[in-house]
Amino acid sequence: MCLRSAYAIDNAGIEVLLYMRKEDLIILSIETSCDETAVAVTRNGREILADELISQVDLHALYGGVVPELASRNHAAHIGRLAELAMTNAGIRRNDIDAIAVTYAPGLIGALLVGVNFAKGLALALDVPLVPVHHIRGHIAANYIAYPELEPPFLCCIVSGGNSVIADIRDYTDIRIIGRSRDDAAGECFDKVARILGLGYPGGAALDKLAQSGGDEMRYSLPRPHIEGRPYDMSFSGLKTAIINIVHNAEQRSEDLDKASLAASFAAAVSEILVPRVMAAAVECDRSKIAIAGGVAANTRIRADFLSAAQSGERMLYIPPLRLCGDNAAMIGCQGYYEFLAGVRADMSLNAYATMDVGDSAPFVSSAIR
Ligand code: KG4
Repeated sequence: MCLRSAYAIDNAGIEVLLYMRKEDLIILSIETSCDETAVAVTRNGREILADELISQVDLHALYGGVVPELASRNHAAHIGRLAELAMTNAGIRRNDIDAIAVTYAPGLIGALLVGVNFAKGLALALDVPLVPVHHIRGHIAANYIAYPELEPPFLCCIVSGGNSVIADIRDYTDIRIIGRSRDDAAGECFDKVARILGLGYPGGAALDKLAQSGGDEMRYSLPRPHIEGRPYDMSFSGLKTAIINIVHNAEQRSEDLDKASLAASFAAAVSEILVPRVMAAAVECDRSKIAIAGGVAANTRIRADFLSAAQSGERMLYIPPLRLCGDNAAMIGCQGYYEFLAGVRADMSLNAYATMDVGDSAPFVSSAIR
């Protein structure tokens, strides 16, 4: 049974949700918020049937960063083929799809619009519900895929190329922001520092590798800023400026730069900004479980520091495997499932938003069933 025949009127004239009786809920999900075109098929939120991705990273690396126009054009070129591939690899036909989930915010507006419009077309053609998903909620949900036993409430630290947020996950769709970066996102800072050190774009992983190559993290002194009156907010732009100054000073004095030590000092500083805040927020919110999410959650130093802090604080730690840390569509399908169950739907006026709080939803998104 598929969803388009899932509604009936009972004897009292009340609409009955027949889809609740359906055994499996198959969601096709789409993610195009930045430079990865991704389509996945998931069953009942947590089971991945297909997870397809085309990364544009090599293309944008030529320009030292993401070129929004090129990202949108490439999404448009690949998304149809990727959706067909996802269905083939999942072993499903079009009429097996019960709902379409799509990232609609935050991200590059043109890139998001490609995914949103493709999703609208597909939902319209298949006559199935359209479920809008916030990108950061998707990153949080990567943990549900990695850990089938994980359920809210828990505290989550989301650190990606565009966002650095500490959030209290009170329920699957009830999310409260505890702290956030006041300026650069942690990943953005990793990428900028990597560029200064000549490591290319995106440089987070390369910087991580360099930091692990035997550098001395005490060699360079870097700031760990605190924001007065906002204990869980973070700031990373001063770190970047400090690195620029160290590099320029070394150049002016014709001194050799110890890049491995600078990378290790930088990773330690980012970790020491993040980890204590997350642990303190877990205590304040009385959460025994902590999860991390987003591309920067792949960082070796940050993972290790979270692990030892969680052990000494006697809290459970959830870290998704590397493949689920970066952008992907499976996480959008997983969160889409919980949004669907909560009754979140969009109509054909769904738009894309460059910025939006993870706790908010678009004003027109209906949370009524149907
Ligand atoms: O989550 P993601 O794939 O995309 C966004 O939603 O932004 O995160 C990408 C970010 C980039 O800034 C990248 O440099 C960073 O994650 N990143 C890392 C590592 N791997 C990826 N940063 C630090 N260490 C890593 N190992």
